[in-house]
Amino acid sequence: MNIPTTVLAAALLLLAPTLTFAQGVGLQKPALPKDEGEKRILEAIADARKGQRYANVSDADGRLMRQLVEAVNAKRVVELGTSTGESGLYFSLALRKTGGKLYTYDIDPGRVEVAKANFKKAGVEDLIVVTLGDAHETAPKNTEPIDVLFIDAEKPGYDAYLRELLPLVRPGGLILAHNMRQPEPNPRYIEAITTNPDLDTSFVLMEGAGLGVTLKKR
Ligand SMILES: C[S@@+](CC[C@H](N)C(=O)[O-])C[C@H]1O[C@@H](n2cnc3c(N)ncnc32)[C@H](O)[C@@H]1O
Repeated sequence: MNIPTTVLAAALLLLAPTLTFAQGVGLQKPALPKDEGEKRILEAIADARKGQRYANVSDADGRLMRQLVEAVNAKRVVELGTSTGESGLYFSLALRKTGGKLYTYDIDPGRVEVAKANFKKAGVEDLIVVTLGDAHETAPKNTEPIDVLFIDAEKPGYDAYLRELLPLVRPGGLILAHNMRQPEPNPRYIEAITTNPDLDTSFVLMEGAGLGVTLKKR
């Protein structure tokens, strides 16, 4: 059968996202611990995943976040939305190498208790400062420069978090935002990160929950 090139090209374009996803899934292997510390953290993540989940980051999201934090040599990571600490555990894989700390905020006392227990089990409690309360009030109180800001608390608050904390993100720092595909992202946040000439944003891992990676330009 003779298929016109244009039809073939259109079909390939339509299939491309599925193919990319399938290839990615096929290529990805479980994270390999480099040392005993990493082994303990990865085991704590696996254990945490057996418990109750609260829209925590996926393994693919968490691993990319760790890679970004380690690549920018972040000393100070701020997370809005600790939950039970799974994303915090991924960050800790990077922070024990960069010599940095995670400052993480959540409003739910029950989840914060579980997170603290998970950090202890992983042996990374010294790398993480957990603050209980409304992050709109608590997080801006610390005015030190932020290397990586991770927004993963209530979705309607994303644009307010950006307004409150963007001035503290250092030039060359990153703003990561979870759930850029699902649940429905906050349109004011999307507008804010895609129309500001001081920022450059990519949307990645969009076959899952979706992650926004925004560079605050130097
Ligand atoms: C999707 S979960 C965070 C998941 C976590 N980052 C992870 O991947 O393991 C969202 C969290 O935001 C918290 N949250 C909601 N509104 C908040 C607020 N105003 N201040 C602080 N935390 C808030 C919730 O209690 C919930 O634990």
